[in-house]
Amino acid sequence: MAQQEDVFKKIVSHCKEYGFVFPSSEIYDGLGAVYDYGQMGVEMKNNIKKYWWDSMVRLHENIVGIDSAIFMHPTIWKASGHVDAFNDPLIDNKDSKKRYRADVLIEDQIAKYDEKIEKETAKAAKRFGEAFDREQFLATNPRVREHMARRDALHERYKQAMNENNLPELRQIILDEEIACPISGTRNWTEVRQFNLMFSTEMGSTADGAMKVYLRPETAQGIFVNYLNVQKTGRMKIPFGIAQIGKAFRNEIVARQFIFRMREFEQMEMQFFVRPGSELEWFRKWKETRLKWHEALGFGQDHYRYHDHEKLAHYANAATDIEFLMPFGFKEVEGIHSRTDFDLSQHEKYSGKSIKYFDPETNESYTPYVIETSIGVDRMFLSVLCGSYEEEKLENGELRTVLHLPAALAPVKLAILPLVKKDGLPEKARAIMDTMKFHFNCQYDEKDSIGKRYRRQDAIGTPYCITVDHQSLQDDTVTLRHRDTMQQERLPIASLLPAIEEKVSITSLLQKL
Ligand code: GAP
Repeated sequence: MAQQEDVFKKIVSHCKEYGFVFPSSEIYDGLGAVYDYGQMGVEMKNNIKKYWWDSMVRLHENIVGIDSAIFMHPTIWKASGHVDAFNDPLIDNKDSKKRYRADVLIEDQIAKYDEKIEKETAKAAKRFGEAFDREQFLATNPRVREHMARRDALHERYKQAMNENNLPELRQIILDEEIACPISGTRNWTEVRQFNLMFSTEMGSTADGAMKVYLRPETAQGIFVNYLNVQKTGRMKIPFGIAQIGKAFRNEIVARQFIFRMREFEQMEMQFFVRPGSELEWFRKWKETRLKWHEALGFGQDHYRYHDHEKLAHYANAATDIEFLMPFGFKEVEGIHSRTDFDLSQHEKYSGKSIKYFDPETNESYTPYVIETSIGVDRMFLSVLCGSYEEEKLENGELRTVLHLPAALAPVKLAILPLVKKDGLPEKARAIMDTMKFHFNCQYDEKDSIGKRYRRQDAIGTPYCITVDHQSLQDDTVTLRHRDTMQQERLPIASLLPAIEEKVSITSLLQKL
């Protein structure tokens, strides 16, 4: 575990060192849980967004996209439930003055029991060697049984308190479990209070005319309130979907793990409108479709799992997360929810306008049911980086840091490197660059030894490098180096484009779907 945490720290500093992600406002010591994407990061982020957008909008005739505003009428957030219920339970330590999420403190405590169980098991496995029977050990070892019983009882109590929104009970659990503040080490806790996660600001110029507006905490509501506009103007027939990519804002209290939980982030959401009664079948289809989208990136099936929700929000009748194996465990990257007709009905109620759909096949009017797929761009970005990062020990004992990025998502597809900075090699290399740059993102580099330049490209995940040498001037060939194998082959310059273009294009991913 400690080793994995180390890896994660290295990934974070790698992001900074190579221009993927910078802390926001860094020269002013940063701004909590806000990050900027650098010259490499923005390219990769754009590639992720294009992969998602094309898979949704281009590959499905019945899905179209929109781009709605971040500011929306404040009643939208009343209707959606965010004003009243988009809360986190908070508790303060009176000595350190630090604020925590009560639910996170308790979940961390549950994880501690799991760690204890894991530690005992690992110890026994070492002691018994090959003869070790994990199942039997877990079922019979008294110490492990005790940890399990305490964990299960805590989990049950916590679940009930959360379900009943019972804030005094959450505090009592923290006291009973003797959870201490990691900063002050004391158990001097305040009451637990609900804290709304939406950022707000004021719109309008005069003080009395100003209206409190929110920065949207999800992009989905922009789709719901435009659903009839799109349906009518696009002559869409159910089932159909609306996709959107855009910024969302949440005043997260526990903002941890780099870009995993941010205060300003980006979402890619799609609402799929279906006939009532058919929603669970569509939910199953979208679950499969979305997992396939992730798996096409080639990180291996063992990196993904579904986490079906046992406890459903009152408006949902099915929900699952797609989790990715990050260095800090399996974590949610995407949510797929069957949201019934909750949102549309609420908007109908609060706006007083009918937003029913007339189904020409059944001659009926009804409020459609909705399946939502919702993925965070930044979390997706983080999962791709974590899945790609490797410190590879080479045969000569050297260490190379390489990002095995899926070629279609890599910021730079081809590096063009003259072997030396003279003899007409730079001019030849530039001429190749001038034809290639129209097809994909290329980088020209003539500084330092060729070995150092390869390492720089490995570190940003460039799948291909070509070296222009003296032979290139004679016979118009170059060496093509493959990032993952480091193997090189000699190729005519004229066959470079057909050799590379398909492999680095988003189309290569889309064709796997
Ligand atoms: N419209 C549904 C919705 O917003 P969510 O589970 O709250 O559902 C969906 O968010 C996805 O957005 C998550 O799976 C995650 O990838 C991303 N996300 C949510 N909060 C985030 C945060 N604070 N920072 C980064 N990504 C976040």
